Amino acid sequence: MNRKVSKAIFPVAGMGTRFLPATKSVPKEIMTLVDRPLIQYAIDEARAAGIEDFIFVTSRGKSALEDYFDLAPDLEAALEESGKTELLQILRTTNMDSGTIAYLRQHKALGLGHAVSCARKLIGDEPFAVILPDDVIAGEKPCLQQMVEAYQETGGAMVATMEVSPEQTSAYGVLDVEDLTGPIVKARGMVEKPAPGTAPSNLAVIGRYILTPQVLANFDKIGRGAGGEIQLTDAIAEEIRSDRDVFGYRFEGERYDCGSKAGFLQATVAFALARDELRDELAAFLAQLPANTQAAQ
Ligand code: G1P
Repeated sequence: MNRKVSKAIFPVAGMGTRFLPATKSVPKEIMTLVDRPLIQYAIDEARAAGIEDFIFVTSRGKSALEDYFDLAPDLEAALEESGKTELLQILRTTNMDSGTIAYLRQHKALGLGHAVSCARKLIGDEPFAVILPDDVIAGEKPCLQQMVEAYQETGGAMVATMEVSPEQTSAYGVLDVEDLTGPIVKARGMVEKPAPGTAPSNLAVIGRYILTPQVLANFDKIGRGAGGEIQLTDAIAEEIRSDRDVFGYRFEGERYDCGSKAGFLQATVAFALARDELRDELAAFLAQLPANTQAAQ
């Protein structure tokens, strides 16, 4: 089978209730790390991996996302007129070519697997990537690019994975693996959100996937899984049951769980400290923090 991965699905239909009240009117994917929305990090990572077609699975209330990727001619003209060329450059990096981005709606919140399966017709008969924008991964080589390169060797289905503490496994999809040498590990099982104490390992699935159309076909076979939702993990696990290859890829990089407030704040600090123009001032603030904890109450 052709191993070029040129399409990616971005499931962005979730309500983001953990960030209410902000997410009452702002999609969580538009929330910013420093000055760039979460979704921009996901798009940049996809582009670096060679993705050319971007499929957003959205829901009611997410139109701000569509506006974000639209051209902003008035804003561009104003910046041009006032000679703000640097800002103009920054703005232009958010532009998407016409026809490369598709939005489709998940009408019912039936789970991540269901969201991905909504894109089945747009994917057709080729391998594709899935990126969960909540999982922000900082690294020298972007995570999806690492995976696309590994996938050229392996084929099959591939999920990003990392070790988490045993207390955390029940919040993730978890892999059962044959052995643990090297970055590519072959899965012999996969379970979504195992009950505490029952996880087959502490290798958690992180939100980057390279999948085959066969995984989409598996949605015809599986029912509802953990939490009463249609789970992507279950459709991938079906591949293993059918004797087809599934690999975990132990990526290099730092992953931030931006679906949680603590993770989002950690990412904010880390990405700000990585900026030349912010580092010194922020580091000085953090260093004297205990004296300052009343400030934002
Ligand atoms: C989803 C997946 C889960 C995966 C996780 C990674 O869960 O269902 O398998 O481990 O993303 O972030 P969620 O975080 O949406 O509950």
